[in-house]
Amino acid sequence: MTNQKLQRYRPNLHFTAKRNWLNDPNGLVYFKGEYHLFFQYNPHDNVWGSMHWGHAVSKDMITWEELDIALYPDEHGTIFSGSAVVDWNNTTGFFPEEPGLVAIFTHHKDRNGENPPKQSQSLAYSSDNGRTWIKYKGNPVLFHKTKVDFRDPKVFWNMKTSKWIMSLATGQTITFYSSLNLIDWQFESEFGENIGSHDGVWECPDLFKLKVESTGEEKWVLLVSIGDNGISETGSCTQYFVGDFDGSVFKAEHDDIRWLDHGRDNYAGVSFSDIPEEDGRRIYLGWMSNWRYANEVPTEGWRNQMTIPRKLQLRKIEGKYIVIQHPVAELDTYFERSRDIHDLEINNSETIVFEVNEAYLELFMNILNSDADQFGITLNHTQTHSTTIEYDASNDVITLNREKSGKVEFSEMFSLEKRLKMDNSKNVQLRVIVDTFSIEVFVNDGTYAITSLVYPDQTCETVAFYSESGKITVENGYISTPNKRFTI
Ligand code: FRU
Repeated sequence: MTNQKLQRYRPNLHFTAKRNWLNDPNGLVYFKGEYHLFFQYNPHDNVWGSMHWGHAVSKDMITWEELDIALYPDEHGTIFSGSAVVDWNNTTGFFPEEPGLVAIFTHHKDRNGENPPKQSQSLAYSSDNGRTWIKYKGNPVLFHKTKVDFRDPKVFWNMKTSKWIMSLATGQTITFYSSLNLIDWQFESEFGENIGSHDGVWECPDLFKLKVESTGEEKWVLLVSIGDNGISETGSCTQYFVGDFDGSVFKAEHDDIRWLDHGRDNYAGVSFSDIPEEDGRRIYLGWMSNWRYANEVPTEGWRNQMTIPRKLQLRKIEGKYIVIQHPVAELDTYFERSRDIHDLEINNSETIVFEVNEAYLELFMNILNSDADQFGITLNHTQTHSTTIEYDASNDVITLNREKSGKVEFSEMFSLEKRLKMDNSKNVQLRVIVDTFSIEVFVNDGTYAITSLVYPDQTCETVAFYSESGKITVENGYISTPNKRFTI
């Protein structure tokens, strides 16, 4: 395959594997100055299958170095999603000398014929900063006699009870287990039967405490990804619950369904383990795709990418705790401001165009709406390919329209508009990261995220701000383009 084909659609700021297929982020952990990103990986093909754990490391979560494959299939099956932790106190007995990494993952074994595939949880450990791994000889450490869907263990150390807690996807519920040594697991509780969206199988849970912005108060948040059922309008997507966890039982404090992302391309995301306390961030990243079309997106030789890592916090909006997200600050160093925008008035049916022509860019704008019915931004990738982010002020709806964004025909769902109903809001703040062929929109200071792939012939020639039937003012804003310190 020519290098040109291999590079086509490849992002600059998002992780992709050099070759072949990837899906979920796995084993996100920070250890000795490195962020580790393991990922569901098929080294043999450009479509899902034969799952391994690929591996990459980074100092800033933006530039990644891909390393050798970390976990290979074995007699217990292929390697499905899971997590990694630092065993600081040698609870496992694997690290007599100094602390090391433990991966807790699902072994998946296809059985021939009538029997369902078997899923069980297993361990592997590394004493050389994740470079090589030893599978635990007593694998699997947790299995179920009857459950077919029994996967994606996400483990953390619960300080209050001095126990490891595992959240596990068990059909359309999440089951919590506890352990003193990561080897012997006790059932604690099961969550989710009568709450949340049950549009598809529940996958990739993550339970963690999150700080409420400004007050510093803490709540527990449970992320749950929901698989594609083949007919829903969204394909695969991620919901979350806010509530309390007493070390055994998680209780949500709301009945409404809350979505983590309002775009179609953010799935199976989980957060990093062992971020140092003095940093204090809860950092999350997702797989930037959707099971409805992930196997068909038009890249050659490689397929699929991760989102930009995001810092998660809670914000109290009209009495509700909402998970808000911002790209990690490390991203800022990859940009420099190329244009500041102040008090730019855009009148009825007017369009103001800025040239960009860069491999990646960031747009930020606070928009005051005087009396416009609709306003927005058009990313003109080329003369014929464009994506629009539009705010319909009369209905408080933001729409991302990628119908004309380039290659869309590989899936019917890809070109359907994605609408986000916002809480009543006259003015709008938008932060948009465009990296080659992906668009991440953060609305109203991270209150909503819209993550979308696009496949135009070029990143973005121009950006057009427009207003229809009324006036808007871009009170302040900027366009940032690649920092010249980075050669791309
Ligand atoms: C989520 C998922 C997980 C599973 C993995 C297999 O995208 O279906 O539940 O462990 O992908 O690759």
